Amino acid sequence: MCGIVGYIGKRDAYSTLIKGISRIDYRGYDSAGIAVSINGSLETLKCVGAVSTLKKETSKKNACGTVSIGHTRWATHGKPTKANAHPHLSCDGKIAVVHNGIIENHQALRKYLISEGHKFTSETDTEVIPHLIEHLYEGNLEKAVAAALKQLHGTYGIAVIRAGEKKIVAARKGSPLILGIIGKGEYILASDIAAITEYTKKADYLEDGEICVLTDKGYRITDHDDAPHSHIVKTINWSVAAIEKQGFEHYMLKEIHEQPETMRTIIAGKFDFKNKIPKFGGIRITPLDLKNLDRAIILACGTSFNAGLAGEYFLEKTAGLKTEVVYASEFLCKAEKLSSRDLVIAISQSGETADTLAALRKANSDGAHSIGVVNVVGSTIAREVNSGGLYIHVGPEVGVASTKAYTGQLLSLFLFSLWLGRMRGSLKPAEAEAEMKRLTSLPALAEAALKNEKKIIAIASKFKNATNFMYLGRGIHYATSLEGALKLKEISYIHAEGMPAAEMKHGPIALIDKKMPVVFAVKRDDGYEKIIGNIEEVKARKGIVIAIAEESDKEIHKKADYVIRVPDSTQELSSMLFAIPLQLLAYHIARFRKCEIDKPRNLAKSVTV
Ligand code: F6R
Repeated sequence: MCGIVGYIGKRDAYSTLIKGISRIDYRGYDSAGIAVSINGSLETLKCVGAVSTLKKETSKKNACGTVSIGHTRWATHGKPTKANAHPHLSCDGKIAVVHNGIIENHQALRKYLISEGHKFTSETDTEVIPHLIEHLYEGNLEKAVAAALKQLHGTYGIAVIRAGEKKIVAARKGSPLILGIIGKGEYILASDIAAITEYTKKADYLEDGEICVLTDKGYRITDHDDAPHSHIVKTINWSVAAIEKQGFEHYMLKEIHEQPETMRTIIAGKFDFKNKIPKFGGIRITPLDLKNLDRAIILACGTSFNAGLAGEYFLEKTAGLKTEVVYASEFLCKAEKLSSRDLVIAISQSGETADTLAALRKANSDGAHSIGVVNVVGSTIAREVNSGGLYIHVGPEVGVASTKAYTGQLLSLFLFSLWLGRMRGSLKPAEAEAEMKRLTSLPALAEAALKNEKKIIAIASKFKNATNFMYLGRGIHYATSLEGALKLKEISYIHAEGMPAAEMKHGPIALIDKKMPVVFAVKRDDGYEKIIGNIEEVKARKGIVIAIAEESDKEIHKKADYVIRVPDSTQELSSMLFAIPLQLLAYHIARFRKCEIDKPRNLAKSVTV
């Protein structure tokens, strides 16, 4: 949530900052703002709406500031108004702060600061920070920031500037902050690497509890007591092209179409063809500990949770490991303590989701082995897992609705299950080899699935005005049905429910009438007859059936009103292939409804609060 950017250097601060925050406005887009230090004072600009509105305002400015901070907001405390937009200022207007996170004790601090004479102008939790820094300032900005941080409870990634001082002070606790090193004395600071890649490939990831002071002479990282910390600078491998639309109308559509390629990348990176076993060099658990595992617990939210449900199926079937999938937020409510015989798998595209991170920390403190299935390299979850993990390497996902990360998570989890099955001895070498052979055809099958887009557009146009949708699937396609429903509701604002097909009879069937489209994932497997039975039940109540079905299914068109074909494949591969038409269906319905597809209302790409 919320995007932060800071820049210090010789370039024009306005255009550099605006470019930076435009790159990460998927983190929040209800208001935006910027503060620039110019000739001993601060110039602040704020607006309600996306960064593009702010851009229009800044274009009227003369280019002269070279120290600046900017923000794109996803509201938590206070409505999206100009007054609530960041940066927030101290009473004297000399200190400006941008913040991502939540200050839990803001009410107590506000009360105290008001009693000390401070005047507040917004409803935000953030505004206590500049006032507190002002209150503690005795001539040294970093010292005042460190003293203020000691009084804050909650989470933050902050960047602070003060009029007349050529420096940015940044700090993090629970919200990501990355420092891009352009050159000595020229830095770009951001909550997301997408804001940095354009300027540099050299990045230094701040850790919780650290303060970083950037000046035009260099930078220094310390703890809150000024003890220096040394870091290794990492190389970013995302290109600028990867974060641009490349001719597609929306990032989401581009990312849907990238899936054959992302699948190829995953297969190329995780296959050890010589030894006929997937390779996972990043996992640090001894073979004996892997054998001794009693169960896996998958922790995730949203789309990553849905991927986890398919992961449960892979791990139980292929690796013979009992698996539970728990919403990360619910995991914290559980009384059970984990042990070293538990393997926790934290799935997160961003690697920053607050609930997943909190659940992971609890699992770590219980003594479980924890690994990550993460996209963003160097993200907090990737760093805090105690036994390594795997990156899905699908490149930057900019569209708020997750697409290529979902199939990347499924593919990576399936490969991981094959590896684990071999390591635990539950899978024979020939079985692993046969699965890997089948997997090599996956990218081409995904390409074939994408070819049915025209038909999907026609169906989307028919149902663009529906008010409810139901998605049904069995077994591994329970995950597909949840994911299909999630995609539709988040970008088109149509109410949709996904559930196991048989569950429909236990209540939701009451919703079926001639206006209700029901999307079935119809795989030709042991449950085929049962799914057909569910379709009959919907038809008997005049519901409309849209079936996602395999090419070889010659019966389905007699039962369903609309059929979207996907290539034939195994159960495991079908979990990825069936997701593609559902992503396209949601996308085209949302497009017909003229929705803000890449930035749906009320959402943000990564939920770090
Ligand atoms: C839906 C979506 C969200 C995320 C969820 C978890 O399209 O993107 O449901 O999946 O917020 O995010 P990550 O995977 O970054 O932990």
